[in-house]
Amino acid sequence: DKGRQAVQRAREAFLSGRTRPLEFRLQQLHALQRMIAEKETEIATALKQDINRSQYDTPLLELIGIENEIKLAIGKLREWAASRPAEKNLLTISDEVYIQPEPLGVVLIIGAWNYPWALTLMPLVGAIAAGNAAVVKPSELSECSSLLLRALLPRYLDKDLYPVVTGSVSETQELLRLRFDHIVFTGSSPVAKLVMEAAARHLTPVTLELGGKSPCYIDKNCDIRVACRRITWGKFINCGQTCIAPDYILCEPCIQGRVVECIRQTLLEFYGADPKCSPDYGRIVNQRHFNRIMGLMEGYTPVVGGQSDSSQRYIAPTVLKDVPPHSRLMQEEIFGPVLPIVTVSDMDNAITFINEREKPLALYIFCSDKKAIKKMIAETTSGGVTVNDVMMHYTLNSLPFGGVGQSGMGRYHGKHTFDQLSHHRACMVRSLGMESVNLARYPPQNRRRARRARMALTSPLIDMSKRTLVWAILATIIGLGLVIALLVILLIAAGLNCTCWYWRGFYN
Ligand SMILES: *[C@@H]1O[C@H](CO)[C@@H](O)[C@H](O)[C@H]1NC(C)=O
Repeated sequence: DKGRQAVQRAREAFLSGRTRPLEFRLQQLHALQRMIAEKETEIATALKQDINRSQYDTPLLELIGIENEIKLAIGKLREWAASRPAEKNLLTISDEVYIQPEPLGVVLIIGAWNYPWALTLMPLVGAIAAGNAAVVKPSELSECSSLLLRALLPRYLDKDLYPVVTGSVSETQELLRLRFDHIVFTGSSPVAKLVMEAAARHLTPVTLELGGKSPCYIDKNCDIRVACRRITWGKFINCGQTCIAPDYILCEPCIQGRVVECIRQTLLEFYGADPKCSPDYGRIVNQRHFNRIMGLMEGYTPVVGGQSDSSQRYIAPTVLKDVPPHSRLMQEEIFGPVLPIVTVSDMDNAITFINEREKPLALYIFCSDKKAIKKMIAETTSGGVTVNDVMMHYTLNSLPFGGVGQSGMGRYHGKHTFDQLSHHRACMVRSLGMESVNLARYPPQNRRRARRARMALTSPLIDMSKRTLVWAILATIIGLGLVIALLVILLIAAGLNCTCWYWRGFYN
């Protein structure tokens, strides 16, 4: 079948060694960069068809991020791929000791439908940079995007090294039976468990980018109007189908009314009186998800929104207040345009609320008190955290992106992708000289030898980086200079003495 053949060809192409030279990787990255630049309109059109996403949002939410990743990888590849010297101890002081990043082999990238380009191509950038082959499996739910990716990628990149395999559950299962050297999966926890199970059969390491309920705490002493504008943007962009979207709001009852009003105002500002007619507001990806989200809202009276149209899979931006902490809505990730507000008595209560649940992918804190912010960060955990905004930690590729606990494992973006998809090989090059140093570790052993071996093996690590070496050499030169100067002075003094003695002798 197609998947098996594609993987076979990718494996052979990898084994040919052509991904090893950095020039090749750079050339592929440039080609990918060209693809994004040239096909921006087509890509945006595909997403318009898939989830009725605004043509402006696709560059903003996906393509700029990919372009940044490519630019960074091109600029830094030599640095990332270079071997790094490691610290040595006394025993290995004259050896060459370093860490060498190496390609892993064939990487499988399983993307998700909500951001079909970013979630496949951002890992691909790192896979190419690290010198791997990569099989890309986009989600069948964003069908137009997935077909376009399959058509475009081979036109720009090496056809054998980076194949796109499309299909649904059975094709994915078929792929997962094959052996890969790493799997990067973005999607839901139930599917992630199947992926990890399949990977375990081959001992294949996995990076799992999942989701979960990302809390958003609003402190009563902050600019609620600005906070709500930022939250409204993050929650309803892509129609709520974003893994790091704020899932629910936590706030004190005294500000709940104002929060609702500010969100209502912002929605009016963003999408007009009828979001259904707004070119900036999207649709739910399919009927199953539409029904799921509508099901979550059952039994509530929305304070904002609540309208829907199943024929278009339209759900209005919806806010629910006073949601009970143990309702079904608070059990699973919403992944749609529904924003529940849960009230808590204070920040400590919010911290307890967050810690009683699974570790979220993201945490958002709106607060103007620096000490309180630090406290909340220190007393909770999450994959990432943004304070006084939402989702922005995702956009900075110096920060590792990934979950913790049930929200995922492994991290990527920027150099983190390169590192995740590389093997960091420990290299030590010794010489066959100085054998006397090693004698202590050989048999026959006795108390003295054992003590000497222990001393050598437990000697502390010495920083052998260039800077310390330069300082050490400078210090040695200055030290030697001082010693020589002292000797010269002594010699002169001695010489003078001698002459004195000589003259003294002469006169005597
Ligand atoms: C897509 O959005 C537009 C508003 O820009 C709307 O008029 C149209 O009906 C939507 N199409 C679908 C299929 O939902």
